[in-house]
Amino acid sequence: MGMSTGDGKIKLGVLGSGSGSNMQAILDAIQDGSLNAEIVLVLSDNPDAYILERAKNAGIAAEVIDCQGYETRFPDVSQREVAEKLKSLGVDLVCLAGFMRLVKQPLLDIFPDRIINIHPSLLPEFPGLMAWKQAVDAGAEESGCTVHYVDAGMDTGPIILQAKVPVLPDDTAESLHARIQEQEHGLYPAAIKQVAGSMS
Ligand code: GAR
Repeated sequence: MGMSTGDGKIKLGVLGSGSGSNMQAILDAIQDGSLNAEIVLVLSDNPDAYILERAKNAGIAAEVIDCQGYETRFPDVSQREVAEKLKSLGVDLVCLAGFMRLVKQPLLDIFPDRIINIHPSLLPEFPGLMAWKQAVDAGAEESGCTVHYVDAGMDTGPIILQAKVPVLPDDTAESLHARIQEQEHGLYPAAIKQVAGSMS
């Protein structure tokens, strides 16, 4: 597989729409030596997303994805542009980290089995938006987070790793999300490590 550096260091491209705390957790794991990887590019569909700021602060290339004025769609032309950028930098693995558009073809075809996502529930429970709120509204006693391969469905691809989180009686959507995020920050680097091991 496209392991271009020869030292087993995997090249990551990260796509996000928001705060980028998961991107930061990946970066921290790289910097403390627990993950042998490099983030070569951070892309966001939201020009105001803090993930771009975090990347720039860390000296990582960061760019905005032009989604042609579409609010929620990820148009083909934008996906092709993203794929070209990632390919030109030799990206081995694409990590969705709070990226709020559905990735489909053509990007999926260009990076087959090389796109992973973190989702804030124990999939297959609560796919889709605001999974933490779905869990509270459903009266679930347990939720968590999942890192999975991305396929053509919504949050349906093969599961790589999961972490469980209790839902407490007085939880709000926000307090549950905060508890889930703490777990996400350990889970995502661990999942990348596992995927990288299976690619080498
Ligand atoms: C994370 O909780 C992630 O699981 C969720 O968005 C948040 C992004 O936080 N993703 C989804 O809901 C995907 N459907 P971050 O920008 O701080 O990493």
